[in-house]
Amino acid sequence: MIPVIFDNDIGIDDAMALLLLDASSVVNLLGITTRFGNASIETTTRNALIVRDLFNIQAPVFKGAGEPIGLRLGEGFPVHVHGKNGLGDIPLPAPHSQPEAEPAAQALVDLTRVAGQKVTVIAVGGLTNIAEALRLDPDLPERIDQVIVMGGAFGYHQHRGNVSPVAEANIASDPLAADRVFSSKLKSVIVGLDVTHEIRMDEAYFSALREYCGSRGEFIADSHRYYVDFHRSFSGETVCPLHDSAAVAFLLAPELFTTIEQPVRVVTEGIAIGQTIHGNDTREYVSSAWNGVRRSTICTDVDGQGVLDLCLTILRQRS
Ligand code: BDR
Ligand code: CA
Repeated sequence: MIPVIFDNDIGIDDAMALLLLDASSVVNLLGITTRFGNASIETTTRNALIVRDLFNIQAPVFKGAGEPIGLRLGEGFPVHVHGKNGLGDIPLPAPHSQPEAEPAAQALVDLTRVAGQKVTVIAVGGLTNIAEALRLDPDLPERIDQVIVMGGAFGYHQHRGNVSPVAEANIASDPLAADRVFSSKLKSVIVGLDVTHEIRMDEAYFSALREYCGSRGEFIADSHRYYVDFHRSFSGETVCPLHDSAAVAFLLAPELFTTIEQPVRVVTEGIAIGQTIHGNDTREYVSSAWNGVRRSTICTDVDGQGVLDLCLTILRQRS
């Protein structure tokens, strides 16, 4: 079993990723750590509790950051993308459980201390909690196998920013935190818009989720209606990308992805705030900003149909 901590800003697509992790027979979900992003920290934490309660997920929820450690791009929350309740405004029951007393960053430190083996972190929101955990415990990288991040955009397949011409939403919500994580000793894998926009969920896919994947499939299809409407409003197509579940897919089937290894930095101020840039470490730069930065694994291509099939198969097995 692979021990996993799920760090998220739940979120329509975060909820699908959580259901996928819980449905996988090879994942041992140690904890769910929340942060602000798709909605306020109160709402994302409430959503984590609701999804956990509804689907009887056996993992504790830890409330995390309510604001970034540095500057962020924009303000408020993307109600037009995820709805007022963060889950596409589908009717939701009240949660009947509470988050743990321990804050998320401390939980990242403590859960990895007692896990008995290296832990994988699936990070599908901004990286505030992980940056804070690194500050609390500089030895954290020794206990983490990999941090698989949904975030960023490097321009592969012509996919650039979704909240500015160059910035992706998760990274733009706390660029300094992301820069600290990618510049740290952590082994980071970046599953960005370069590949998530190549994985497209359409009406036939949502019908299959409803038909074969029980109440989990229905929940994903119902909440994604709002998400699809948002994407249709500017693309004209009744499809949406699969973002956060792509990070889970990387964990379970990395062979579906093409990757490169390069150092990554994040722009933390100015008009390009939130932009992710990878270097080319065969070059010697005038800038010293790239010296000694550990290489991240960057996804540059994906078998999109393979990822969709994988998600459906896992969710179907658990229905
Ligand atoms: C990312 O931003 C959030 O809105 C989604 O949950 C996803 O993690 C995509 O840019
Ligand atoms: Ca997310």
